[in-house]
Amino acid sequence: MKVRKGVFLVAGLGTRTLPAAKTIPKVMLPLADKPAIQYVVEEAVAAGIEQVILVTAAGNQAVEDYFDTAYRLEETLAARGKEKELAELRALKEMAAVIGVRQHEPLGTGDAVRTARSVVGDEPFAVFLPDDVIDGQPPAIRQLIDVHETYGGEVVAVMPVPREHVDRYGIVEGAEVAAGVRRLRSLIEKPPVGQAPTNLAIVGRYVFTPAIFDYIDRIPTGAGGEIQITDAIDALAQEGEVYSSEFTGTRYDMGDKVGYLSASMDLALKRPDLRPGLVKYLRSLDLDRLDSPS
Ligand code: G1P
Repeated sequence: MKVRKGVFLVAGLGTRTLPAAKTIPKVMLPLADKPAIQYVVEEAVAAGIEQVILVTAAGNQAVEDYFDTAYRLEETLAARGKEKELAELRALKEMAAVIGVRQHEPLGTGDAVRTARSVVGDEPFAVFLPDDVIDGQPPAIRQLIDVHETYGGEVVAVMPVPREHVDRYGIVEGAEVAAGVRRLRSLIEKPPVGQAPTNLAIVGRYVFTPAIFDYIDRIPTGAGGEIQITDAIDALAQEGEVYSSEFTGTRYDMGDKVGYLSASMDLALKRPDLRPGLVKYLRSLDLDRLDSPS
């Protein structure tokens, strides 16, 4: 069955992105001139996702509003003849059908996915953690959907990370069945450095079948006192088929301040309208001087 629905977990508090994310949902922080969530939704749409399900929380209505009609703004743009800006806003709304569901308490990624259960229904679906912005061709989630269409089952995106960083991620372990594809034996959320079975870290892209919901219901509270999606996938891997896919593309971590700044710079450099000015500015920097503390 075709993967048509994408669940986007946007309810996070953004504690790593403070103070900027105090009153703005972190996925609304701009990379170049677009909020991070737009890149992630564009990735989904380019991969064939037709329905965007936003799992939001109190205080982050801005994400839903972003994909809704901005009536006053559109009327004003129309009255002032600002056709280009108007077309851009309208295109944004037409990108996909957007549905919002509410997570009532910050109980973790497993609970957030479960919140979307009735909207997802009985079909496979994609899950996005929009803190992870991935610039990839084909889109990272498309690469996962291809693995799902070949092997069936659940699929998680992974990438190798330095050994000393394994405690920041979900870590997977399994046997390779094709280049970059593993059938997983176990997944563990944020293992202590030295206890991780591998350095293959989960990145925030998943393809699930509806079977995942029963496993979310069964697992106990995990790392950080939260219901972790990694634990539900691990439980499923003991009885069913779970694959990992080492995607190609560049992943940026919005929660890491240098990662955030790098994403903004790289994505702006890819834009023909922004690149020349930015390159000119970068050339003007005296890089040797930057090596000494400011
Ligand atoms: C989440 C997941 C973790 C994954 C990470 C990728 O953790 O729980 O398994 O490796 O995203 O960004 P978080 O960064 O939300 O703590």
